[in-house]
Amino acid sequence: MKITVLGTGYLGATHAASMAEMGFEVLGLDVDPSKVEALSAGVLPFHEPGLAELLKKHVNSGRLRFTSDYAEAGAFGDVHFVGVGTPQRPGSYAADMSYVDSAVASIARHAQRDAVIVGKSTVPVGSARRLRELARQNAPAGVQVDLVWNPEFLREGHGVEDTLRPDRMVLGLPGHGAHHDDAAADPSDDQRLEAVMREVYAQQLEAQIPLIITDYETAELVKVAANSFLATKISFINSLSELTEAVGGDIRTLADAIGMDDRIGRKFLNAGVGFGGGCLPKDIRALRARASELGLDQSVRFLVEIDDINIRRRDHTVGVVTDMLGGSVMGKQVAVLGAAFKPESDDVRDSPALDIAARLHSIGADVHVYDPKANANAAKRYPRVDYVDSLPQAVARAEVVVLLTEWEEFRSMTPQQLAPLVKSRQILDGRNVLDPQQWQEQGWTYRALGRKG
Ligand code: UDX
Repeated sequence: MKITVLGTGYLGATHAASMAEMGFEVLGLDVDPSKVEALSAGVLPFHEPGLAELLKKHVNSGRLRFTSDYAEAGAFGDVHFVGVGTPQRPGSYAADMSYVDSAVASIARHAQRDAVIVGKSTVPVGSARRLRELARQNAPAGVQVDLVWNPEFLREGHGVEDTLRPDRMVLGLPGHGAHHDDAAADPSDDQRLEAVMREVYAQQLEAQIPLIITDYETAELVKVAANSFLATKISFINSLSELTEAVGGDIRTLADAIGMDDRIGRKFLNAGVGFGGGCLPKDIRALRARASELGLDQSVRFLVEIDDINIRRRDHTVGVVTDMLGGSVMGKQVAVLGAAFKPESDDVRDSPALDIAARLHSIGADVHVYDPKANANAAKRYPRVDYVDSLPQAVARAEVVVLLTEWEEFRSMTPQQLAPLVKSRQILDGRNVLDPQQWQEQGWTYRALGRKG
């Protein structure tokens, strides 16, 4: 069985290399020739721990190749994974499905023998059924192309382990359950598709990773439901941090205490500047847009509040920095630590850190940004601030140090290390990862989001 992976962004590149690691011959396809060129040379165009090594290993072994040519992919693969992006449509909250539609239609058109398309991209519910039709219409006569929906839950920064050892696997099949009365649903199709996917994921099944088999719609919704729940947890704790900060409580202790109830759990209760990245913000908006199309605005109205709380974090952070600088940031030296939306990533999509840096700059601050991996991507997106190559350079002559992405380098920095470099001993801990006492003992003004400063 040979595998193709359509789209070689974070999801596709990780999936392609992981499939090669699992022993398959894999062909990755991307319409961007510069990506194909880099990947073919064994060079990863972004940062993802462990992936560069895996890519090199399997490009060298010959098990992993890349192309821009759909005809080559159609001739090569028995199973075609679709991992192209579904970005937010400009001027709208809905997802842009044009890349997925084009990948499915193109691979179906070029299929040279029976094949299975496996949808992995995050899509609005209802897409899989439409895409199945699209694939069938485009397949050459006599060639059977069918589709399963298999959402992806990988986290950036943990992509390889999440792909090789996921918590669970979900498989949406065309004829499952509620849609049995559908004339297009033939039970033998489902059996065939399930058998193919069991072969693809034989190693994971052997390792007892749960496989949930369901209909297309549930499979599509599992992904957005999981991301909406995670976003809700983060905004929940951030909303309470507004209270603890006002009354002099401590949001970390509060999170620890409620998190010990295992019905709640401590994970994703870290208060701070809020969530960003290529998934959570866009997925909650796309779910709202889809619910609205279905006439179900009120079902997910709470997500409006989740989004608002999240964006409010950024306004509040700018407000606290302004306050620390005596009421105006104009002409003040501000060191911003972090630009990526989270540590171990060079991704700056919808990054709270970069947004806050840009806002501080736009109201007159002299902003110096340092991120261990994301400077280059940040500079492409927002070139107007000063990007520097090290922590000492960023904090040199700073009137306030603002920690916005909790890289280990920033978690482990000490007041003694920074003191000789800064102009004023002031720090804002935007991720609640430093020890307030340690900084205060050294004469620093320490402020945090969710703890009284
Ligand atoms: C997320 C989902 O976790 C993953 O399952 C899905 O496949 C894709 O979307 P990712 O975007 O890589 O993954 O990042 P994640 O680790 O979920 O973090 C998202 C954002 O939330 C980051 O900006 C992070 O800093 C923030 N966050 C996370 C918090 O502010 N507090 C927390 O407690 C946890």
